Formats: sequence, structure tokens, C-alpha cells
Amino acid sequence: MRSIVTINYLGNSFKLFSDSIMTYISEITNVMEYEALAKEKLPKMVYDYYASGAEDQWTLQENRNAFSRILFRPRILRDVSKIDMTTTVLGFNISMPIMIAPTAFQKMAHPEGECATARAASAAGTIMTLSSWATSSVEEVSSTGPGIRFFQLYVTKHRNVDAQLVKRAERAGFKAIALTVDTPRLGRREADIKNRFVLPPHLTLKNYEGLYIGKMDKTDDSGLASYVANQIDRSLNWKDVKWLQTITSLPILVKGVLTAEDASLAIQYGAAGIIVSNHGARQLDYVPATVMALEEVVQAAKGRVPVFLDGGVRRGTDVFKALALGASGVFVGRPVPFSLAVDGEAGVRKVLQMLRDEFELTMALSGCRSLKEITRNHIVTHWDTPGAVARLIFILELSPLTGNNQNWQLT
Ligand code: FNR
Repeated sequence: MRSIVTINYLGNSFKLFSDSIMTYISEITNVMEYEALAKEKLPKMVYDYYASGAEDQWTLQENRNAFSRILFRPRILRDVSKIDMTTTVLGFNISMPIMIAPTAFQKMAHPEGECATARAASAAGTIMTLSSWATSSVEEVSSTGPGIRFFQLYVTKHRNVDAQLVKRAERAGFKAIALTVDTPRLGRREADIKNRFVLPPHLTLKNYEGLYIGKMDKTDDSGLASYVANQIDRSLNWKDVKWLQTITSLPILVKGVLTAEDASLAIQYGAAGIIVSNHGARQLDYVPATVMALEEVVQAAKGRVPVFLDGGVRRGTDVFKALALGASGVFVGRPVPFSLAVDGEAGVRKVLQMLRDEFELTMALSGCRSLKEITRNHIVTHWDTPGAVARLIFILELSPLTGNNQNWQLT
């Protein structure tokens, strides 16, 4: 049936016939546009859950703004007729250094949820990370067909349940465990508190179905915050990284590192890789943007393990900047549920394709033909030389994005 819907798009409000939304979908030209359409389509409680950051959401904005403060030093006349974006992650060959971060409850966005995401990732030749809190099980995701997949683990108070789940992921062909270490308690996401967020009744945490572990009940708070308080093991510590190695032979990525000190400890305790992440700004507010924390972690890792980044990656230029600062690859979070909500598997495919195309163009315009040609000299940051600082101040003052931003200081 033809109905009228209101679309808020780039700050403007339009009234449209529902069938003209299809035209909008075909006209999407960047990853961020999915969010505006998803907001129109999803129930408020669901959209808010996907979109929110913690408390003042300072870090949420900063995850994006920090990328815009890093500028390019492109090289010219370098024959960029062929660009190779392929790379290897933990020994697995992928088509580009852009992967999918774990985001929970994807069936709230689309009935095919995580399975649609898995198909889109494997069509793009890249890695998908499945959340412990997925609404599709490890077995269901694996049954979508071949693909390189990682499993994200939340350690609960029920270690035998965690061990069973890790074994199931291993049997289902998952290739690594991303151990989330930034969530001993849930960050305070005020929209979820106001909305009394809870998983819709037709959905379950599929990986835990039939296992003795509590479910998410409606409370007078965020249902998820209460669930985490009841189920997640707050005592999680470095020794547990060793414990995890006793129950699985899969490589372990420590997800949620923001400092050099913790990068060194992660390596000492046997991590095969580090993910610089602030959980999409949903945990501790006023931590730096991940791209600001990246370089100190890379320096502490000293090339012993690969360092990845997630948080605010929405453009191919962001991917290039992260790689120039030493990341081996990036993961994207929110664009997945937003594009799923708008257009299912096709939406996630398009997100990956747009990021790929933008990244390829950035490489070409910077004079880089392969990932190893991307160097620190291809970018300039405000913590570089005094001359660079002066140039950046000048540019920032002219910039509508970051001009008059009192929230950052030169160091
Ligand atoms: C997340 N994130 C997350 N992380 C994790 O380890 N397990 C999880 O289940 C989830 N779930 C989740 C849900 C939603 C809606 C969001 C937005 C985020 C964090 C995620 O893996 C990643 O760190 C961030 O999403 C990256 O930031 P961007 O790309 O969303 O800005």
C-alpha cells in the first residue's frame, strides 16, 4: 500500500510516498546516509539502541571529528593504474583491510539479521565478527556458506557456558576469538534507560538458547544494563586471557585497548592481535577517539602483533588514515545495522562496496598502489611538527566541522 512517510535527510525534512524510499535507496552515495533512512524505518527504541553513545556522547562525536583533523600529504605521478587492496589478517587472505565489527541483536534491524551480514561479508571477501549477543547462533551463521568469521566473546559468570560456546564457534569454523575487555559493566546509555530498552519478545540471544543463563527482562532501567549486571563477570582480568587460551586453540584478539600499557600487557598475556576500540563510544565517555589512541598502541606493540581499529570509520579516507597510523585493518560497527534496516543484505553489501571504492580512490589520489606503500608520511596530524600544527590550526579555524571546537587542545 502506498503511504506517506517523513524523511529527515541531512537536516531537512521531506514528505514522500513510501515507494519513493526505494528511489532514495538507489541514490545512496555514502555510508552515513543509511543512518537517516534507518531512523525513519526503525522503532525509536531500536534506532536509539544502535545509535547511542554513553552519557554526554562526547566520545561519540569525537570518534568522527578526530578523523577530520588528520590531513593528507599525497604523492603524485606514481602510476596508480593498478591498486591492490588485498591483505592478510591472522594468516587469512581478505580483499581489503575493512572488516565487520560485532554488533548485537541484528534481527531487530532485519529479519535475516546476522545471516544477511555474514553473506554480505563473504561476498565482499572480508571478515565478519559475530557478537556473543547475536540473534542468530554460531551454527546458523556458519550454515550461510563459506566465509572467514571471528567470534566475539563476552565472559559471563558461567564459565562452563562460555567454554561450550567457544567450542561451538570453533566447530562452526570461526577462526578467531575477539575478547571484549571494556565491558565489566554496561556504559550509561541514556536513551536506553529512558526507552526501558529490552530485546523484542520474538527475538532471543540465540547463542545462549537452552543454556542455563538468564534472559533479558523488562526493568525500570535499560533491560540490557540489568542483564549485563547479572550475567557478565566483573572480575575479568588478565589471567582470564590465559584461561581462554586453555579452552581454545583459536587466536585471541583483545578488543577494547586504548593505552600503550594495556597493549604491552595484552601481548605479554598471549594476545594474537589488539583491537583499539572504545566500543563505539558506548562505554566510558571522554575516552579519546580511537584514531587518537591508535599510534601509542601501535608503538607499544612494536610490530609483535597486528593492531586493528574500530570506531567512527565511515569513509575510505578514514581507513587510509588508520592504516597510515599503523593499523593493519579496521572494523565497522553501526553502518551494518543501519544498512541492514534499510535494505537487508544488499544494504550491507553496498556499505562494504562504498567503503572499498572510497578507500581505493584515496589510495590512488595519495599515490599508493598497495597497502605497504601507505606510510606515516602520507598524513599529518596536530601532534606532528610545529609547522604542521600551525597549518592545521589555520585549516581547522576555517573548517565548519571542527572550527571553534573548544574540546580539543594542541599537545
Ligand atoms: C556494539 N559493539 C559491540 N561490541 C562487542 O564487543 N560486542 C557486541 O555485542 C557489541 N554490540 C554493539 C551493538 C551496537 C548497536 C553498537 C553500535 C556497537 C561495539 C562494536 O563492536 C564496535 O566497537 C563499534 O561499533 C565501532 O564503532 P562504530 O563503527 O559503530 O562507530
